[in-house]
Amino acid sequence: MNSKGHFKHAELVPPYIQNLKPYQAGKPATELAREKGLTKISKIASNENPLGPSPYAIKAMTQGLWDLHQYPDMHAYQLKTMLSDLYKLKRENIILGNGSEGIMANIFRTFVRPGDEILTSEKTFIGFFVLARGSGSKLITTPLTEDFRFDVKKIAAQIHQNTKIIYIANPNNPTGTYITKEEFDYLMKFVPSHALVILDEAYFEFAQGQEDYPDSMDYRYDNVITLRTFSKAYGLAGIRVGYGFAHEGLIENLTKIKLPFEPNLIAQLGACAALKDSPHLKKTLKNNEKRYHEAFRFLKKNNLKPIKSVANFITIQTGSEQASNWIFEMLLNRGVIVRPLIANEMPDFLRISLGSKDEMNHFYESMNEILPEYEKIKNQIKS
Ligand SMILES: Cc1ncc(COP(=O)(O)O)c(C=O)c1O
Repeated sequence: MNSKGHFKHAELVPPYIQNLKPYQAGKPATELAREKGLTKISKIASNENPLGPSPYAIKAMTQGLWDLHQYPDMHAYQLKTMLSDLYKLKRENIILGNGSEGIMANIFRTFVRPGDEILTSEKTFIGFFVLARGSGSKLITTPLTEDFRFDVKKIAAQIHQNTKIIYIANPNNPTGTYITKEEFDYLMKFVPSHALVILDEAYFEFAQGQEDYPDSMDYRYDNVITLRTFSKAYGLAGIRVGYGFAHEGLIENLTKIKLPFEPNLIAQLGACAALKDSPHLKKTLKNNEKRYHEAFRFLKKNNLKPIKSVANFITIQTGSEQASNWIFEMLLNRGVIVRPLIANEMPDFLRISLGSKDEMNHFYESMNEILPEYEKIKNQIKS
């Protein structure tokens, strides 16, 4: 583009945006296959559903293509009605968005003002950090507990007069750990009415079977918003639909800010059909449970220090950034893509999403190939 003189971005772009590190997406599978001359790629890096979407969702979305000349229903009547029936809530308590991350972005736009404090833990969902840093507010983080869980005591101790948002990912990504009912009750005793708690339950479906997991539907707080998504257990990450539950006063204000036609027409249709297909959800959870136990056993047996997880991924502690990079590269050479956690400030860890049986076998075979070499060199690369 022609321009007179220099682009004075320092004047145009606020410093907190200039300082933001752009998100580094992993290498696309097709690019990796081309580069390394591989025919088989197993991407177990983004906590997606290895069984794919429900076939009913595919059918509904395909049929919906004929209506693409029309705007979607801006009130998403059908999807909200289905969610309100499922969770016994009023439609006024439901917000929808472009993924749960889209709703998080709208929460920042609706509630956060300069000078506000945003409180969460270290080593949590990277998308939240990007939103917090990009809002120009003050981000305060507390360390995880020794067993890699949100430390509610430390979080409670950091609640101040200016605290506007407290973010809890439950289960947490990338550790897969969760806070218990007792811990949630403890934290809520310290939360003042001027602070909004975001309870991010993106992996809720995988965790709900845990007896002491605090299902947010069992609570009614005026300043808690629960976020859930169709991206994980429902296998619809590509169409971007998330939903949130909160007091109607919060939802009403969020609705003023959100883009009127999100989620889009295809996304609304896909989500409705997915909700009806409970056998697909059951199959997904069953596959996840089986893969989890197999993977945990394998990782433990090979001394790879897996963190106990209630989600659809397991994070391992390699001991050093070099060790993580070495395993990551060696797996990549064999067509297996896992997730390094440098961006989460966990360079000495790696996250492995639980894939299909076939993808996990590819991972085990590749690990078995590299483990003898790893055993020999690990002390060198750890130092
Ligand atoms: C904890 C957590 N929250 C939110 C999201 C974003 O989900 P969505 O696809 O609904 O935006 C993710 C995605 O990885 C996540 O791990």
